[in-house]
Amino acid sequence: MIREKNNVFYLETENTEYIFRITEGGYAEHLYYGAKLNDDNTVPFEDKLFFVRGSCIEVDDVSRRISMEHFKSEFSENGKGDVREISVDIVHADGTRTCDFVFMSSDITEGKYELEGLPSSYAGNDSVMSLVVKMKDNNSGSILELIYGVFEKANVITRAARIINNENGSIRLRKIMSSQLDLDEYKQYDFVGFAGAWAYEMNMVRRPIKAGITSQASFCLNSSSRFNPFCMVCESKACEDYGEVYGFNLVYSGNHYESAYMDVFGKVRFMQGINPSEFGFVLERGGVFVTPEAVMTYSGSGFRDMSRNMHRFVRENIVRGEWKYKERPVLINSWESCYFDIDEDKLFTLAKTASECGMELLVIDDGWFAGRNDDTSSLGDWSVDADKFPSGLANLSDRLKSIGMDLGIWVEPEMISENSDLYRAHPEWAVRIPGKKHALGRNQMLLDLTDNDVRQYITDAMRRVFSCADIKYVKWDMNRIVSDSYGNGSTDNQLEFAHRYVLGLYEILGTLTSEFPHILFESCSGGGNRFDLGMLCYTPQIWGSDNTDASCRVHIQTGYSYGYPMSCVGAHVSQCPNHQTRRVVPLSTRFDVAVFGALGYECNLDELSQLELGQIREQIRFYKKYRKNIQSGDFYRLMEDENEIQWMSYDDAAGTGAAMIYRKRVVPGASFSRIKLCGLKPDAVYEFTGGEHEKIMTTGDVFMKAGVKISEGFVHGDNENDARFLVDDSTRIYILEERK
Ligand code: DGJ
Repeated sequence: MIREKNNVFYLETENTEYIFRITEGGYAEHLYYGAKLNDDNTVPFEDKLFFVRGSCIEVDDVSRRISMEHFKSEFSENGKGDVREISVDIVHADGTRTCDFVFMSSDITEGKYELEGLPSSYAGNDSVMSLVVKMKDNNSGSILELIYGVFEKANVITRAARIINNENGSIRLRKIMSSQLDLDEYKQYDFVGFAGAWAYEMNMVRRPIKAGITSQASFCLNSSSRFNPFCMVCESKACEDYGEVYGFNLVYSGNHYESAYMDVFGKVRFMQGINPSEFGFVLERGGVFVTPEAVMTYSGSGFRDMSRNMHRFVRENIVRGEWKYKERPVLINSWESCYFDIDEDKLFTLAKTASECGMELLVIDDGWFAGRNDDTSSLGDWSVDADKFPSGLANLSDRLKSIGMDLGIWVEPEMISENSDLYRAHPEWAVRIPGKKHALGRNQMLLDLTDNDVRQYITDAMRRVFSCADIKYVKWDMNRIVSDSYGNGSTDNQLEFAHRYVLGLYEILGTLTSEFPHILFESCSGGGNRFDLGMLCYTPQIWGSDNTDASCRVHIQTGYSYGYPMSCVGAHVSQCPNHQTRRVVPLSTRFDVAVFGALGYECNLDELSQLELGQIREQIRFYKKYRKNIQSGDFYRLMEDENEIQWMSYDDAAGTGAAMIYRKRVVPGASFSRIKLCGLKPDAVYEFTGGEHEKIMTTGDVFMKAGVKISEGFVHGDNENDARFLVDDSTRIYILEERK
């Protein structure tokens, strides 16, 4: 709900409230973001700015003189004394850089606003209102729109900004953020980001915010595994179930920037948007620039509730289309099974065994198109390799149907190999500075998505691929980052290249996903190098990491779970020894970790023993029984220490859930594991079963407050019958069912 009273705007969700006002002089002053309040009176928490300190700059705000340096602003600007980090920086038509944005008008509407050319959240089954506050620059006449969306049930507030050039000539945008949040000075805050690399995604980095700038960014062209755009600012004592936590994300797949600037008094300014170092946009008179959408949520009770808000929001208001809540198929992927060594018969044999185990879809990964026998060639030439598939892919999909399997395919549409017919015909379509030597990544170059002809080529080529057989699933990969950036669609100003590339990508994805609504799309970028809300607007799931070792995956997936529901993380059971780490981890562990995500298998089934195939059959039977509950349930991180991780997913409507316990090393004498469950109905009675012996019936209240102690995880001479037979890297899954 959004209300305005005496120039104060109240943005309320079920449990949170965001308040700002327009001062007498027309400035947008932030007042509060936190737990919902039961009184509209803002006087108690307004800043008491009685005088302007020492060397600060004074701004006349009609009835008071203020310094912008100490003002909690909704969107800070350059040139009027706010010498902290600012949100908008413009070179005006006359070459000056000062802005003085003051209130013009506001518009509150039911429903969700749209952002032209960009993906953004939508109302879904939530009740959503939008607010646009129009500000005019006293100096130049240009317009700044501050855009807000309020998602009542999700407890989320979205933001964006729009600039309209009203000046007598072109202006240059040097920086424009999507959101800014000025926080009061009385708390010690931490900045929590998720840093990573290839096969090493989503490692939590928690830093105390000190005077100055604490920041993170992507410079890769995509949102990147280096720093995921999801991050948090929390009070320094915050943990899973205690403390004030703000969660932030950006609906964007390009270079992003997040920072927390603390002044010497302890006021913290958070901002998030397109990375200004890789950006600069020229707007002609009348031209409009709209930022990507930022997402914010607040929890007064720790990370867990913040994550739950984000999960619900992503599931209900970001992911869309036919596959939004549809149970995702169990797939077998050819990559770690066969790499480039594929052909129709080999894949059919793999699929046959997979189908006997209960799997539902075969994904032909890399290597299916003409001339592609390793990673040095052929990207861009999207025709089926006639040697490997002499009867085309349609023949394989027909054969698969006869054994109850569907067909999926891998593509990497944004890329071009130098050794390809496409490059020979159109070298100018590759991203490279004309006449200069270009650096390769995985032997390939990017296609220039700022160029209309290139976008048309990719769209047509993919249309043909997706229609050449009964394709039910597409894995959209992207295996390099940018270098030597240059776009034909941004020839006058190469600082526009990165953002225009992302807009081009969204145009292609928008066209293809709406033309092929039945296809389940999974995004991928050498694993999690583009795991963001922008991609999730088109693809309901993203391959979490090329690291398929469950003992690493359990950490990577825990990292994702802070900002994203596990149902959008592609997770596979792969071969042992693991192909990335050579580690041997039990098959049950590999399954128990993958089962919380969108499950697949990625191993050569025909090399497995009958015993292992029997285990896999049993795993898939189990998964199919609980897949709906696990995929649509609320996910909780129950606990984590040096030797143990516990997760849980619970479907409240069905009263069914699953809890997982991961023991890294067997340590005789170590304490019992205790699982304290979350999210249950206190008075309902549940049965908890699983592991070796556990079969316990009690109330949700007992399970949540006292928890369940699990039997010992090591053996003791002949007294072993009561123990869990664990080896290092062992897991157990327990099922929880409400007894009505
Ligand atoms: C990188 C992906 O992350 C892998 O899963 C696989 O699809 C390869 N690319 C294929 O080249």
